Amino acid sequence: MMRFDTVIRHGTVVTASDTFVSDVGILNGKIVALAAELTDADEVIDATGLYVMPGGIDSHVHLDQPSGQGIVMADDFDSGTRSAALGGNSTVMTFCMQEKGQSLREALKIYHAKAEGKCHVDVSFHMVITDPTADVLGQEIPALVADGYTSIKVFMTYEGLRLRDDEILATLDTARRTGALVMVHCENEDAIRYLIGRHEEEGQLAPKFHATTRPIAAEREATHRALSLAEIVDVPIVIVHVSNREAMEEIRRARQRGQKIAGETCPQYLMLTADDLDQDAMEGAKYVCSPPPRDKASQDACWEGLEQGVFDLFSSDHCPFRFDDPEGKLNENGKRHFRWIPNGIPGVATRLPILFSEGVMTGRISLNQFVAVTSTNHAKLYGLYPQKGTIAIGADADLALWDPNRRVTITNDLLQHGADYTPYEGTQVRGWPVQLLLRGKTVMKDGSLVGGEEQGQYLARGLSSLTA
Ligand code: URP
Ligand code: ZN
Ligand code: ZN
Repeated sequence: MMRFDTVIRHGTVVTASDTFVSDVGILNGKIVALAAELTDADEVIDATGLYVMPGGIDSHVHLDQPSGQGIVMADDFDSGTRSAALGGNSTVMTFCMQEKGQSLREALKIYHAKAEGKCHVDVSFHMVITDPTADVLGQEIPALVADGYTSIKVFMTYEGLRLRDDEILATLDTARRTGALVMVHCENEDAIRYLIGRHEEEGQLAPKFHATTRPIAAEREATHRALSLAEIVDVPIVIVHVSNREAMEEIRRARQRGQKIAGETCPQYLMLTADDLDQDAMEGAKYVCSPPPRDKASQDACWEGLEQGVFDLFSSDHCPFRFDDPEGKLNENGKRHFRWIPNGIPGVATRLPILFSEGVMTGRISLNQFVAVTSTNHAKLYGLYPQKGTIAIGADADLALWDPNRRVTITNDLLQHGADYTPYEGTQVRGWPVQLLLRGKTVMKDGSLVGGEEQGQYLARGLSSLTA
C-alpha cells in the first residue's frame, strides 16, 4: 500500500467533466491516487462537505506594470499573488509589457526580477508586443516560444500601446509560424480618440464619460476586425475581456465560419454597469476599466456566453490602482479629466467567489462548467494542461477546497490586495475557497496565507490546445 505525503479525505472531487466522491492521495507535489479510503499519510485533510476542485487559474492578471507618468499599480507580485491565493487561485498569468524600442528578452528579464522570490502562487508571463520590429517578429518571438513563452497580447487601443492593422497582421503571421497564441484587446482607438475630442469640446470630463467614449460599437468593430485579420492569416486568437452581446456574437459567427477562436469575459461585465461610473465625488473612477461595464442587457449576454460556451475563459483582468491616492485613480489629472484615470480594477481574489455564487449557486452554470472556465480551459489554451487545471493522476496537486455553504460579505480587508477598495464591497456571496494547496502544500487556509515562504514558481508553458 502506497504511503502519501497528504490525503484529502471524503471530499467531492469536481473536474471540468466529472463530479465524484473520492479521496485524493498526494506524493511529491503530484496527485498519485484517486480512490476511496486512502489512509496512510503524513497529513490528512478532512474535506467532508467540501468540493475539491483544481486551483483557479487566472490567465489575465496585471501586476507591477508601468502605467504612465506618476501612476503606480497597486499590486506587485507579492501582494497580487497573495490576493490570488486567498481567492482560490494556484496559478496566475501576468503580462510582461515591452516598452517601445526594448527587446522582449530585456523586458522579460525585468519582469522575472520583479517576480523572483515574491510569488505565493505559480506564475507565467504573456508578452505584450508594442513594437513589432523585424527582429522581434523574426528572431525573438520564435526563440521565446521555444523557451516556453507561448502567448502574446496585442492592443488595438491605448496611445503608445496600440498596433496598426499591418502590425497586427505581421504579429499574427509570426504567431501562425511559431504556434504562439495571440490575445487581442479589441477597441477602435481612432473612434475613441474622436469621441474624447467631442466630449472635451462639450466639457464632459467626469468619470462617467469614460464609458460614453468607449461605446459598444467601438468594441464590436474592433472585434470584427481582429477576427477578420486572424482569418486572413489563418491563425487562432483569443478575444479578451468581452463586455457585450455584439462583440460576443462576432465570436460566435467567426466560429461558425470555421475559425478557431477563444473568448474571454470577466466579473465586471456580469456585475457592474456604466451607472457605476456615474456617481458623485469621483466615486465613479473606481469602476473605470476598458472596455467599460455596459448595461443589464450586456450582463445577460455575458451570462449567456458563459452558459453556452461562447466564452471559454472567465478571467479577472485584475489591474489594480488605489483610489484615494495621487498615484492612483485620484491623480491630479484624473480628477480633472477621465482620460487620465488609470484604466483597470482589482478582482483577482473575487473572480471565483463571484462566479461560484452568481453562477453555480443560482444554477446558471454547472460545477463542471465553473471548473472549465476558471481553471481547465486556461490550462489547455495556454499550454499548461494536464500539469495544471485538472484533478488526475500525475497532475500537480494544485487544489482548492470550497465550502459551498460559506456565506461571505465581500469587504476590501478580506482580499489583502494593494488597492484601497474593491468594486464589490458589500456583495454577499455563497461559497468560498477555504483551503488552497499548491503542489501538495497548503498555502492558504481560512483566509490567511500559511507555510511561511513564497512558494510560487515560474511556469514555462507548452503550445496552446488551439494552435498545437
Ligand atoms: O482597463 C483595463 N482592462 N486595464 C487593463 C489593461 C487591459 O486592457 O487589459
Ligand atoms: Zn486589454
Ligand atoms: Zn487586461
